[in-house]
Amino acid sequence: MKSRITPVCLLLLSVIAVFAQSTPEAWTGNARWDVRINDLLGKMTLEEKVGQLVQLSSQDFVTGPATSSDVMAEIRASHAGSMLNVTGAAYSRKLQTVAVKETRLGVPMIFGYDVIHGFRTVFPIPLGQAASFDMQAIEASERISANEATSAGIHWTFSPMVDIARDPRWGRMAEGSGEDTYLGIQIAKARIHGFQGDDLSKNDTMLACAKHFAAYGAAQAGRDYFTTEVSERTMREDYLPPFRACVDAGVGSFMAAFNDLNGLPASANPWLLKTILRQEWGFRGFVVSDWGSVNELKYHGVAATGKDAARVAFNAGVEMDMESKLYYPNLVTLVKEGLVSEESIRVAVGRVLAAKAKLGLLDDPFRYTDEAREKATILSPDNLEAARDLARRTFVLLQNLNGTLPVKKDAKIALVGPLADAAKDQIGCWHGRGDPKDSVTLRAAFAATFGDRLVYARGCDVRSDDTSGFADAVAAAKKADVVVAVVGESEDMSGEGHSRAELGLPGRQAQLLAELRKTGKPIAALVMCGRALTLESVLPLADSWLVLWHPGTMAGPAVVDVVTGAYSPSGKLPVTFPRSVGQIPIFYNHKNTGRPQPAGERVQYRSNYIDSPNSPLFPFGFGLSYSKFTYDNLRLSSKKLREGDAEIKVTVTLKNAGNVDADEVAQFYVRDLVGSVTRPVRELKGFQKLHLKKGEKRDVTFTLTPADLAFWRADMTYGTEPGRFEVFVGGDSDATLSGSFELLK
Ligand code: BGC
Repeated sequence: MKSRITPVCLLLLSVIAVFAQSTPEAWTGNARWDVRINDLLGKMTLEEKVGQLVQLSSQDFVTGPATSSDVMAEIRASHAGSMLNVTGAAYSRKLQTVAVKETRLGVPMIFGYDVIHGFRTVFPIPLGQAASFDMQAIEASERISANEATSAGIHWTFSPMVDIARDPRWGRMAEGSGEDTYLGIQIAKARIHGFQGDDLSKNDTMLACAKHFAAYGAAQAGRDYFTTEVSERTMREDYLPPFRACVDAGVGSFMAAFNDLNGLPASANPWLLKTILRQEWGFRGFVVSDWGSVNELKYHGVAATGKDAARVAFNAGVEMDMESKLYYPNLVTLVKEGLVSEESIRVAVGRVLAAKAKLGLLDDPFRYTDEAREKATILSPDNLEAARDLARRTFVLLQNLNGTLPVKKDAKIALVGPLADAAKDQIGCWHGRGDPKDSVTLRAAFAATFGDRLVYARGCDVRSDDTSGFADAVAAAKKADVVVAVVGESEDMSGEGHSRAELGLPGRQAQLLAELRKTGKPIAALVMCGRALTLESVLPLADSWLVLWHPGTMAGPAVVDVVTGAYSPSGKLPVTFPRSVGQIPIFYNHKNTGRPQPAGERVQYRSNYIDSPNSPLFPFGFGLSYSKFTYDNLRLSSKKLREGDAEIKVTVTLKNAGNVDADEVAQFYVRDLVGSVTRPVRELKGFQKLHLKKGEKRDVTFTLTPADLAFWRADMTYGTEPGRFEVFVGGDSDATLSGSFELLK
């Protein structure tokens, strides 16, 4: 039957349209705020609306290629709905006063900032935090960061970064949770809850932002801002789920990434920003560009002019323009020319105003500008203690020959290396308002603990070729019972725009270790880094290797806790440590291939190298303890899981078989043996961080539901397939204790 639009239908439609317009839109779910937002939208001129979609940077602190403008004039003209890099209660009050008192409608601005691993109290870099596998501690750190940042006038953090990173050459690996999607999801949830809490309008909670949407971490050759080519299947299986988890956790905003994804830059990509984010996931917050990513569409070659770039980005779904300065006045012109719809501008502004309403800014624009609170909050003793505690949970012990660590309290220590007294380096990249002056260095903390039993010598720089300090370092080593050598990367060797092609210890540090080795003294090498490094050739130069990442303000006391044995290392690698750059990308949950290498042995015409093992130096999830943990007696609650069944339980007995009370991260992996598409050799499906007293035994149970076994099948539908699954439980991704079950339809 043909459908016909009759006059009655038309009448009905127009009645519905009028009714829809007079009903306040549910921007926030709070009727009072929704009425206010609709009232503002009704009063705003097109110019004022577009102004709400502009984000400008404070000129005295920039986090990208600087552009200049008279910010005050822009605010007065209602051309700045948001600013970034404005910090301090007093300064934010000053700028907000202009927005509220000197513009026609007095709409407050929203202030954003990169609170990535702390505001002033700096916690370990996010990659280090991921190594803690401690969701409570991570969430608590973000709660503290939100409290500090909001006390300094900030409403919105550009965090969490949930980009999966499988290539350690990429410097921004430091900012995320590493290579694994499941771990990334758990951490994303913890961070969002830490920042946003249960009520955004409280003055100590802030809006979070899931970034960088999407696949930014897949940059070819690990070079920052470079092209990405990722299949839809890999996007959906690996790169997108942490972002989806952010939506489910109620994240308030998204940031579109810089990278070209399969031929369409992420900041011009309606598949990402509309089909996936809005239609599939139902995201209701707003989307901001990355710094200048709208303008960069010209260099990608998908826009000829700035105006063109504004059109392409906005129509793709980028609602706020960070620092390209292209939305105003271009969007006004584009609407007049019919190339951008006025309705889509109204919706974008409604979403931005909704965030302001939820933050309480429409009720009180000065809610976050209390200087007394700022003073009391920043660097409080509790915050510093939390930073110390989280830092010590992040350290990963890779090797510990002859029980070199922990050192005896009465030992004579030679503390050497370029990162032992490195107040700035220890706080890592993206350290917010972290100030090296607040840092407690390793040297300071060791001096406080070991007194005159400590000798310090820098030895060499991180990156230069100067070896003039070697003699002092060797002399210090000769006087000591044990050498603690603090080596690795400086803070400016990872983070944005800091990719590396070589991943060994930079400068002359390996040579310094070799000189120290000749003294015959036991050596513990402590490594600061923002990524996985290739340490194979230097491993024999020290007895113990402890990865510190960049531990933050309280690095010194945290390291003393671990080096003296007050706390046993419990961190596990959130990224695979390769043997060589040639193995990259290397990650534990790869596919099996048609010619897998048998039992680690090189065999002709199998998938292996002629000049390297396939195996990494240290696998994902790896990390030793001062104690020793054993896993045995794996049992399943059933050998069969039926589609309708609730769950299957996998239990093992974990024993602390060493002499020290310690924490262990028990990890649970699953392998789907046969599917309609190839499946990874194993996937993390659960973990538990547990404290066991020496000698203690405990049953640890993991639960699987059919939903945990779902994947993107050959026809690109999401669901399970019947068949056999293997399970593995242990202390890293090479766990051998296993069992199996069958999933039945
Ligand atoms: C980075 C973002 C950051 C933004 C604002 C950009 O260069 O890619 O991660 O949030 O700057 O500082």
